[in-house]
Amino acid sequence: MSPYSHEPDERHGARQPKRFDPERAARLDNPARFEYLPPKEVAEMLDIPAGGTLLDFGTGTGTYAIEIARLRPDVEVIAFDEQPEMLELMRAKPAAAELANLKSALPSDIAAYKGKIDRVLALNVLHEVGDEALQSLKSLLKDGGATLFIDWNAEAERPEGPPADHLYSPAEGRQRLEQMGFTARRGKLFPYHYSILAD
Ligand SMILES: C[S@@+](CC[C@H](N)C(=O)[O-])C[C@H]1O[C@@H](n2cnc3c(N)ncnc32)[C@H](O)[C@@H]1O
Repeated sequence: MSPYSHEPDERHGARQPKRFDPERAARLDNPARFEYLPPKEVAEMLDIPAGGTLLDFGTGTGTYAIEIARLRPDVEVIAFDEQPEMLELMRAKPAAAELANLKSALPSDIAAYKGKIDRVLALNVLHEVGDEALQSLKSLLKDGGATLFIDWNAEAERPEGPPADHLYSPAEGRQRLEQMGFTARRGKLFPYHYSILAD
């Protein structure tokens, strides 16, 4: 059974009213992303324990899951998305097929990971996940685990990404996480994104 409902109000609490449209998936593979948000830096910020587990919540086409799986062959990377067509796009990438430490998961698989995950990455998803999904995300973490939220910054001048009224400022993002019971720790600003490490 899915950990959260798929009723019409499933995105309650999210600032962007609609789910990501798979028609826009090619944008997730824009190589420019690695210049303004380098995967190596994301992997360093995640600081996954040796031999640990990372779940990429809302992986899309797996752009960052693949890079992190490459950078950290000792880590099991679970690329999780609610839209099977997004995971199919990831699996179609030759790089994904070569990585023995990269798995994919749908909401129907997620119960098996509860309390077992060292780190969650939530990249460009905070503005579009509902409160119920955020609670589900939180329940995945082991004791001592943490989530790295990185999202488009509503306050930054950006050449791409969703409109500002679908996004949070860094302070609003932090406030939403605190309201959902996360403890927000370190944060950082990238050219177009903010990050918050939360537990
Ligand atoms: C904007 S895309 C970002 C994809 C990826 N993180 C990246 O940055 O390349 C957001 C993705 O999150 C997924 N998503 C949104 N809400 C979700 C939820 N509650 N559970 C799982 N996946 C979700 C969407 O299907 C979509 O693929």
